[in-house]
Amino acid sequence: MGDGMKLLLVSGIMQQIVAGYLTKNADIINSAPLEVKDLLTFLEDVNPTLDGLLFTDEAFSRQEEQDKQDFIAVLNWLNKGHRQSVKIMVISRDFAKEGQFAELSQKYTSLRIFICDYVRVPRSFFEQTLEVLRKENGQSTVDSENGERTEEPEKKLRSWLINRFSKPQNKTEIKITDGLTRELENISRGISRVIAITGHRGCGLTSTVANIAYEASKRGLNSLMIDLDVEYRSINMYYGSFGEQAKRDEVIEASLIRTLARPQDYLKTAFNIKENLWMTALGYGFTDRKLLGQFYNCRKLVGLVSVLRNKFNLIILDMPMDLLPTFKEAIIHVDVFGLCVPNNLYAVLSTLRNIEVMLDKESASYLNAKSRLIVTKYNDRSRFKENIFIPEKVNELLTSGLNESFTYEMKLAGHVPFSSKFDAQIETDIPLVNTSVEHEQAYGNILLRLMEGIN
Ligand SMILES: Nc1ncnc2c1ncn2[C@@H]1O[C@H](COP(=O)(O)OP(=O)(O)OP(=O)(O)O)[C@@H](O)[C@H]1O
Ligand SMILES: [Mg+2]
Repeated sequence: MGDGMKLLLVSGIMQQIVAGYLTKNADIINSAPLEVKDLLTFLEDVNPTLDGLLFTDEAFSRQEEQDKQDFIAVLNWLNKGHRQSVKIMVISRDFAKEGQFAELSQKYTSLRIFICDYVRVPRSFFEQTLEVLRKENGQSTVDSENGERTEEPEKKLRSWLINRFSKPQNKTEIKITDGLTRELENISRGISRVIAITGHRGCGLTSTVANIAYEASKRGLNSLMIDLDVEYRSINMYYGSFGEQAKRDEVIEASLIRTLARPQDYLKTAFNIKENLWMTALGYGFTDRKLLGQFYNCRKLVGLVSVLRNKFNLIILDMPMDLLPTFKEAIIHVDVFGLCVPNNLYAVLSTLRNIEVMLDKESASYLNAKSRLIVTKYNDRSRFKENIFIPEKVNELLTSGLNESFTYEMKLAGHVPFSSKFDAQIETDIPLVNTSVEHEQAYGNILLRLMEGIN
């Protein structure tokens, strides 16, 4: 069925899922996610050969006017390059979009809007849409303006995506040709984030680390997880292969200590789970208290972060709140904290109490200023004053003055839906982002918000 119809999929965080639906019906030329705000730059840089562009709601931000401008810029680019035969399809669940785009579809005849009245657009709807297009189209692939076929749009797109997180004003200077160049670009441009996941114990910290890092690696970000929770070592639960290796290999069993001691040797001392995904932790068998005392401290952590932050796009720390006193001086080296709090009153109050007990006022307000809230175990039956306890409310309550050193307004990074099947991911090496569409979306969103930083 595919017949090589070349489609560019503009679907933001839904990229993987939608691409999965369409592999039989089309050649999706990008595997990395794209949004409408970045599309023109992408088209100009990569100039891919295509038959169509497919947009879903996740391609758009909530800023309607800006989205419209960005969208029109793309339409103009297509027109300018005599690419009028390139089909533009928008599949949306939002009835208002029809009106918004009606005017445009008069001017741009190849633009079609398909409204889908479901909570989630089903696979069959995508397939039918492409079928309509195929019938209308019935013609061969349109080459780009100068007839040149772009050799490796995928590779370019990946590098391009990563560079999005660097200095946007320099974006056009970046010309990436191969993996090595890309790596050098990453290192020289220092595209990296150090993110610490914190909160009261049991609030879903480790699962957040495991899923966000996995999601990041899928999106081409070289990621390192650091499990600082040496008391419980719970990342072991999510990546069973680490535990297995640790049983056989002393270096891996003591991975965290060795990596803290000599971060520059991380290729040997950290554990490579899969392409782009690394972790360092202690195996359950490690018991040497003396070595712990020597290397498990703030100075070594700061050293590790400063050596490795240029080797990774993402360093993500599992850092329960009660470790913050030990790593107090490291707080300033963390770009953003993901503060995990479930949406129930008990969790909110014990988080604030935890902050009060663990941190002095100055550290508490630092943490506040550098945090984005992750509402974990989000349960939509949970109530606060008879209303649904929505993530925004959790946020409001946390900073409402119940703790006087914690009163800055925080931004929300997102929420993780409660799931009765949550523990199916334990010891599988396959975090939930791979098996639950809902969680893939949730953690993907949180990842993007955290990568944006606190601004
Ligand atoms: N979204 C969720 N849905 C259902 N259960 C969840 C969810 N998030 C976390 N849990 C439950 O909470 C438990 C603890 O989660 P996780 O290991 O991520 O938390 P933690 O804060 O690191 O805890 P610990 O203090 O034990 O290290 C999980 O085993 C799971 O049972
Ligand atoms: Mg944990």
